[in-house]
Amino acid sequence: MSTIRLGDEAPNFTAQSTEGEINFHEWLGDSWGILFSHPADYTPVCTTELGTVAKYKAEFDKRNVKVIALSVDGIASHKDWVKDINETQNTTVNFPIIADEDRKVSMLYDMIHPNANDQLTVRSVFVIGPDKKVKLIIVYPASTGRNFDELLRVIDSLQLTAYHKVATPANWKNGDDCVISPSVTNEEIPALFPKGHTEIKPYLRMTPQPN
Ligand code: BEZ
Repeated sequence: MSTIRLGDEAPNFTAQSTEGEINFHEWLGDSWGILFSHPADYTPVCTTELGTVAKYKAEFDKRNVKVIALSVDGIASHKDWVKDINETQNTTVNFPIIADEDRKVSMLYDMIHPNANDQLTVRSVFVIGPDKKVKLIIVYPASTGRNFDELLRVIDSLQLTAYHKVATPANWKNGDDCVISPSVTNEEIPALFPKGHTEIKPYLRMTPQPN
């Protein structure tokens, strides 16, 4: 097991998936990525989660994000369960699901928390940038389905930081004012933020969302 922290390179691996063998870094290419684990196939919360992710494909595509799921079940189980997801969630699963039967990837990404369950993965989420660095880690318990709107919100924030030198304040949502990154000097502001800015304190400078 390794400890993965923000800013670390996302460990590479090769694994079997519902879309064939995947080398994780090659599969990511120049995209952003979401690697997320679920506890088990044929479970109710997971069924709703994977259906929801399939429905959000256009939102992920818009943000240049590739999504890949994982559990410790096998390929045959995944493929059979996908039929149920499609039927019950009224969707078509359109992303690969890793079959991590030997728990190689789960251990690499510390997705098994033995005091919660020593056999199954928890609901881990890793957001990975095009530089292959880990940008976000969230861990949910098995009993709580994830909020994928929140995941899109965080990706929007991460991409604003990456491409526009802003951070996002508490409870920020797409379209709200942003915080000018502390690394930006006052002299740089006019060129970087033509929409204008407000200095509330020298360390708290707001600007309309730049993109
Ligand atoms: C579920 O996906 O519904 C689930 C999985 C494991 C434990 C509890 C719920």
